[in-house]
Amino acid sequence: MAARVAIPQWLQPEAAALLRDAGLDVADGGRGVDDDPLPRAGTLALVEGCAGVLTQLADRVDDAFLDAAGPGLRVVANVAVGHDNVDVGACSRRGVVVTNTPGVLTDATADLALALILMATRRLGDAERRVRTGEPWRWGMGRNLGTGLQGRTLGIVGLGQIGAATARRARALGMHIAYAGRRDADPAVVRELGARRLPLHDLLAACDVVSLHCPLTPETRHLVDARALARMRPDAFLVNTARGPVVDEAALADALRAGALAGAALDVYEDEPRIHPGLAGRDDVVLLPHVGSATRETRRAMALLAARNAAAVIAGERPLTPVG
Ligand code: DGY
Repeated sequence: MAARVAIPQWLQPEAAALLRDAGLDVADGGRGVDDDPLPRAGTLALVEGCAGVLTQLADRVDDAFLDAAGPGLRVVANVAVGHDNVDVGACSRRGVVVTNTPGVLTDATADLALALILMATRRLGDAERRVRTGEPWRWGMGRNLGTGLQGRTLGIVGLGQIGAATARRARALGMHIAYAGRRDADPAVVRELGARRLPLHDLLAACDVVSLHCPLTPETRHLVDARALARMRPDAFLVNTARGPVVDEAALADALRAGALAGAALDVYEDEPRIHPGLAGRDDVVLLPHVGSATRETRRAMALLAARNAAAVIAGERPLTPVG
């Protein structure tokens, strides 16, 4: 009997086709592209007896999930580079391989980070909103003024692939780069970017724009809290395309209200899809619905990479992009 791979949430159909071509059965969660995620009970029922699962951010892979799948589960192929929804320790204790999708979404996410930097500093979200609502406008020397980026410093928190790609884009605009992170970044990348490393709290105090690119881990949860925000300059901006819980949203709302920073641009949230009420109504905050990797090309590449990873592990081969 062919091994089965579950796809609980809607996923680009090329992934299921690849799995079938590899001789695998596919258990589809039956979600349409615009449907809400399959509820937990449905997911647990779907994964029972499967050798692999293609998971997404909505799928929490914990002991209950692994119990429901049973001892035949070989691989959890997460369709994202972040894998904070997967208890990797619980998987490895049971011999289940975890994979993610690094690389294929680097450019799309860095493009989005740059877009958010521009939207926040040039106040573009607010300007577009006012035009759309029919507010009268006219050109004026003192109107709609934002902040220019040339000669300013971008602080990257987490100079991995996406952080570096964002920094390259910012360099092209004439920005200087500083970075903070738990480890030294790749020396070649640091040289290329002319980046200087700073302790996080010094980086927050020194930079005109701070862009978050670290994974969500117990250490980075609320890394940007009230104390960190208090280090930022009143003319500085915070951008988050990483994971919502890296920022304490209540503290961010308080800091913005107090004028401790000039604005923020967010693609990710602590409790998606809920937006903190203290942020939702603010003109100095740009809010996007977690679209960092949302290009047709990138999402297709993510889905195919996850399917390839699952098929490889089930065939007894090394996955292309294992976690850890
Ligand atoms: C990721 O890969 O972690 C993205 O946030 C998913 O879009």
